[in-house]
Amino acid sequence: MLAASSEITSAKPFGRHVAGQELVAWRTPDGELRVGPGACPHLGAPLCDAAVDSGALVCRWHGLSLGDKPTAGWKRYPAHDDGVLAWVRLDHVGGEVPLAEPVLPERPPRAEAISAVATVLGRCEPEDVVFNRLDPWHGAWFHPYSFAELRVLDAGEEEFLVEVTFRLAKNVGVPVLARFSCPEPRTVVMHIVEGEGVGSVVETHATPIAPGRTAVIEATIAHSPRPGFAYARRVAGAVRPAMRWAAKRLWRDDIAYAERRFALRKDGRWPG
Ligand code: FES
Ligand SMILES: [Fe+2]
Repeated sequence: MLAASSEITSAKPFGRHVAGQELVAWRTPDGELRVGPGACPHLGAPLCDAAVDSGALVCRWHGLSLGDKPTAGWKRYPAHDDGVLAWVRLDHVGGEVPLAEPVLPERPPRAEAISAVATVLGRCEPEDVVFNRLDPWHGAWFHPYSFAELRVLDAGEEEFLVEVTFRLAKNVGVPVLARFSCPEPRTVVMHIVEGEGVGSVVETHATPIAPGRTAVIEATIAHSPRPGFAYARRVAGAVRPAMRWAAKRLWRDDIAYAERRFALRKDGRWPG
């Protein structure tokens, strides 16, 4: 998983490292996602500083144009935009079997949902992020400002069910039933299966940036059958920053948990 779809535009290239590979992403004039190596094949200029012209990158150093035509020493990677998140497939890293498209969990229909994506960087590895997310018992202890009365109802091999009250204010909370699952090794998904916001999904993607560095890219795709939600959808631009803020607040704590676990593992002090 590379980034939020909305972070990549046709106005300006977007740069990010994934698994130690420098990447550049941009869009064609009709909005198609493009991702390629981040260093210019001529003399190595950073392509995140290139200009985008008619869907091609134009290198700042000597003007080489890199687009859909193959260029010696530089080739685009397969990329996928699911409307909320932008993906890149790096077949030469990770040793995983390439799929035609990423494995996506069930999401509410786009026309009836509000989505927001928050990114947090941490000094840890994806497995530390996934471990934190799959430890449901920490919620009420570690995030008392957000969760109360948490009960793990059913912890199976593939998924677990949690009953929890989301705190909206000091004495106001909404009880929900949430199902956690792992559709692929670096993703944990929470579906609200009962209660307020039923059908909403939170997808947590842990993207390896470099050894000991991970980006947590979390998409919240909120849905509610309540009439007020239709209004909230119309003002989604105003609601999104609040959603991002809520996710980031939780992740400031959660990243501390993941970083602590990584530090212990690195020093051989992890008990497990
Ligand atoms: S380094 Fe990009 S054109 Fe020379
Ligand atoms: Fe947490």
